[in-house]
Amino acid sequence: MKTQSIRLTIVTACLCLATSFQPLFAQATASKPLSQDEKMKWFREAKFGLFIHWGLYAVPAGTWKGQQIQGIGEWIMNRAKIPVKEYEQLAGQFNPVKFNAEQWVQMAEDAGMKYIVITSKHHDGFAMYGSKASKYNIVDATPFHRDPLKELAAACARHNIRFGFYYSQSQDWHEPGGAGNTWDFPSDAEKDKSGAYDQYLREKAEPQVKELLTNYGPVCLIWFDTARMMGTNNRAQRFLDIVHTLQPACLIDGRLGAKGDYRSMGDNAIPNQVVHEDWEVPATLNRTWGYKSYDNDWKTPEDLTFKLVDIVSKGGNYLLNVGPTAEGLIPQPSQDNLRAVGRWLKVNGESIYGAGPTPFGEELGAPDPTGKKDKKGNPAFAAKTDWRCTTKPGKLYIHLFQWPTGSFELPPLVGANNHSPVVTKAYLLADSQKQALPVKQTGPKWSISLPAAAPDKMNSVLVLEMK
Ligand code: GLC
Repeated sequence: MKTQSIRLTIVTACLCLATSFQPLFAQATASKPLSQDEKMKWFREAKFGLFIHWGLYAVPAGTWKGQQIQGIGEWIMNRAKIPVKEYEQLAGQFNPVKFNAEQWVQMAEDAGMKYIVITSKHHDGFAMYGSKASKYNIVDATPFHRDPLKELAAACARHNIRFGFYYSQSQDWHEPGGAGNTWDFPSDAEKDKSGAYDQYLREKAEPQVKELLTNYGPVCLIWFDTARMMGTNNRAQRFLDIVHTLQPACLIDGRLGAKGDYRSMGDNAIPNQVVHEDWEVPATLNRTWGYKSYDNDWKTPEDLTFKLVDIVSKGGNYLLNVGPTAEGLIPQPSQDNLRAVGRWLKVNGESIYGAGPTPFGEELGAPDPTGKKDKKGNPAFAAKTDWRCTTKPGKLYIHLFQWPTGSFELPPLVGANNHSPVVTKAYLLADSQKQALPVKQTGPKWSISLPAAAPDKMNSVLVLEMK
């Protein structure tokens, strides 16, 4: 009874703190609970977000004791089996004096991104904010002594960009009870059996998630990851309860180990077909999430723009990652490539933000006719890449990656009650005059005459107004 009332007082205190933050939050705490559609509204509109993987792993940047370590940068502690006592020393060297929250958020805005999700604690267990629940954090354990997440929350509020946290709830290689570190500590099964794992959850992970939802204003989403051992003892449910109590409007991704608010696809895994639910693809700009000094395998702006359109045309969101350096800088090629996508979005954003999936499907490709298998042994898919379609009520946006000579032929469309839809006007989105292009109907077929040259080499968008 007593604990109950103490808990209630804490929750009320937290809610008061959070409400004092910003008007956005007021919406969430208003008496009427939000419907799922209301909760998802911003996410469905946003489409494009910035993921940031930043932590102590930026110091070794992929190299440990002179050796380049295979795999993604933020896993270096695990891949090189670095003992906790040694890895901890990195905190003393982490002093990102070039970090500038305003510049990071400005870059996200320039890229046309509408939300930011940053690692508040990754699997290495190091909190990138001032945490009272663990001294192993950037404010207490590094010479930097600043809380970058506070600074980013403030900058996001200024720029009207939503702010959310990645939080590794299960893996914590720093704690004897956290999952994943079996080179310093016993196996995960033993931690589970001995109660050490639940102790870690109760004493670190749960309190930290509460801190994040209390001290940083409105949190648009929490991105949990690698749901190891979440299935028993109500573990995932406890996280759900914390989020729902402290910030009912905060979304939960698909990797908690309980049903979240949307589906998280695999890393860099874009589905072949339209997926009719809320979903997001986390993706890299090169081959790592956390900074690696020698990974320069950058995706081009053309490729990134294609992937963004491809994802939106299949109904999803694109969460695209940068891995800042230990000095606090976002690698220049990341910035340049993202800004190039942003320039395309400045002209063509109408076809992306809030847009729905394609009504066609044949433009996406088809299962390989020869029965080939992909790397995972699944039937291979022969993707097509000439064009994609995104939609808004009364409008089709045809994204032309290959500029057709002469005209574009629209595949047959079936409207409601078998009425054939009618194209009432066609124009190029890049044309501020919206000059009508000649449209020809032959039976159920529509063809749109195009000028000889594409307005945009990367992707020109043809708008079709429909009835
Ligand atoms: C994987 C990795 C992790 C990364 C995440 C991003 O689950 O474990 O390092 O943060 O993918 O999607």
